[in-house]
Amino acid sequence: MAVLKIYVYPAPILLKTAKRVSDFGPETQEFIEDLIETMYVEDGVGLAATQVGVAKQIFVACPTMKQGEEIIVINPEIDQMQGEETDVEGCLSLPNISAKVPRAKSIRLRYYDREGTKCEMTAKDFYARVIQHETDHLNGKLFVDRVDFGTRQELLAQYEQIQKEKGRRL
Ligand code: NI
Repeated sequence: MAVLKIYVYPAPILLKTAKRVSDFGPETQEFIEDLIETMYVEDGVGLAATQVGVAKQIFVACPTMKQGEEIIVINPEIDQMQGEETDVEGCLSLPNISAKVPRAKSIRLRYYDREGTKCEMTAKDFYARVIQHETDHLNGKLFVDRVDFGTRQELLAQYEQIQKEKGRRL
C-alpha cells in the first residue's frame, strides 16, 4: 500500500472526464487500497482517482466518517435526484477554502463495486452530498463549479492568494 500524491487546483487532471473502468484485476485492486489509505491519511471524507492523477472512474468515500465503513464506487451514474439542500463543502484539491454548495437532497446511484458487480443505492443528505461531490470529480467538476459565477471568482481569488502566501513561507 502507498500514500498517493494529491493534485491540487489548477492541475489539468482535475478538469478531465475520467475513463470508465472495465478491468477489475489486481492492479485496480491495489489502486483502490492506495486510494483508501490516502483518503484516511489526508483526513478526507472522499477521494476520487482524478485527485491522485489517474483518469479512471473510481472513487472511495467514507460519509459516515467511521474508518472501515468506506464505499468503493466505480463508473458512477446518478440517475435520480430529488430536492435541494445547501451546505458547506471543502475539497482536498482546493485546500483552505470552502463554500456553501447547493446539491440534490436525495439521489439514486448506479455503479460497479470493486468486483465488477453492478449495484445501485439511494442516499440522502450528507451521504448524498459526498457522492455528488466525488462523482463530479470524475466528470472534471469541482465544488467551485457548483456555485454562482461571482462566488466562484471570489473563492478562486481567495485560493490563489493563500497559495501565494504559502509559497512565500518557504
Ligand atoms: Ni473534492
